Amino acid sequence: MKSDDLTLGQESESWSLPAYWLRRGITRRGFLQFCTAMAAVLGLPPSFTGRIAQAVVSARRPVLVWLHFQDCTGDSESFLRATDPSATDIILDILSVDYHETLMAAAGRQAEKSLHDAIAAHQGKYLAVVEGAIPTKDNGIYCTVGGRTALGIAKEVCGGALATLAVGTCAAFGGLPAAHPNPTGAVGVQEAVPGIRLINLPGCPMNGVNLAAVVVHFLTFGALPATDQFRRPLFVHNDRIHEKCERRSHFEAQEFVTEWGDEGHWRGWCLYLMGCKGSETWMNCPTVRWNDGTNWPVRAGHGCIGCPQPYFWDRMTPFYTKLGRLKRTGAILPEEFPRKPQ
Ligand code: SF4
Ligand code: F3S
Repeated sequence: MKSDDLTLGQESESWSLPAYWLRRGITRRGFLQFCTAMAAVLGLPPSFTGRIAQAVVSARRPVLVWLHFQDCTGDSESFLRATDPSATDIILDILSVDYHETLMAAAGRQAEKSLHDAIAAHQGKYLAVVEGAIPTKDNGIYCTVGGRTALGIAKEVCGGALATLAVGTCAAFGGLPAAHPNPTGAVGVQEAVPGIRLINLPGCPMNGVNLAAVVVHFLTFGALPATDQFRRPLFVHNDRIHEKCERRSHFEAQEFVTEWGDEGHWRGWCLYLMGCKGSETWMNCPTVRWNDGTNWPVRAGHGCIGCPQPYFWDRMTPFYTKLGRLKRTGAILPEEFPRKPQ
């Protein structure tokens, strides 16, 4: 995709982001640390820090609408519950978030009007974020907002967007609502609204740092990042968890935890026998981590459950059974996606 393929919806505003951040206690040093961290997440050398900083402070603020469907709001929580100042603070200041049911003060008809006004005023120029699966059975009646089905809203909003970001495994692949027997016919955005410009950011929940990095990539290069066969950014999903796991040396030495709380568990040995799915899961958790980089599931002592993989609720369960014993395991093949109805 060429850098001139994407054009943002709003003109530059007269207010100065750096001055605003200073008033909020985000220093120049803190901002540059953010830009350096974003370069690292994107797999870029530190020399890109200046270019990212320039792009972020001079960006035209993209209009963003954030839709909630069959979800637990875990992705919004993941994005918003970071310490201060965080990547989230900076990204929320860069974006013009015109509709987000969890964040906005408006309710009822007022809220619906906000959504309508935002997409009407910025047709083809705004970013849509979708959180949650979309039920399709019985004309999508199992999830409605303001009297309209999630399916109808998604078709209108995502269909008119510059690009759509499906955050969390539910929005990307159907997630928990689509787990067998999938009573509501839940699917991800890709199946509900085919043919749109889409980035999937799966995970249960998605990592807010990765969402921030997609936005920064968009602002810096004027394009969405390169993706794999599941439309997941390669900078997030290029490596298996297993490849960069800090317990890997114990896997190689055949040192395994065999019972929760045993000596191997205390010593940080490999969790493969306890059901870790890290060898079949592609995600940057070992390097980006969670909670401002303090920890991630395997380091905390729990195996990876394969949360960013398509249909992990069906394919990676039982979660505490080792991979080799699962009947249906392994990476889903491109030709298997989207999954045929069972
Ligand atoms: Fe691989 Fe999981 Fe063992 Fe880490 S804990 S080395 S990801 S099997
Ligand atoms: Fe999910 Fe595994 Fe990371 S369960 S959060 S991909 S360690």
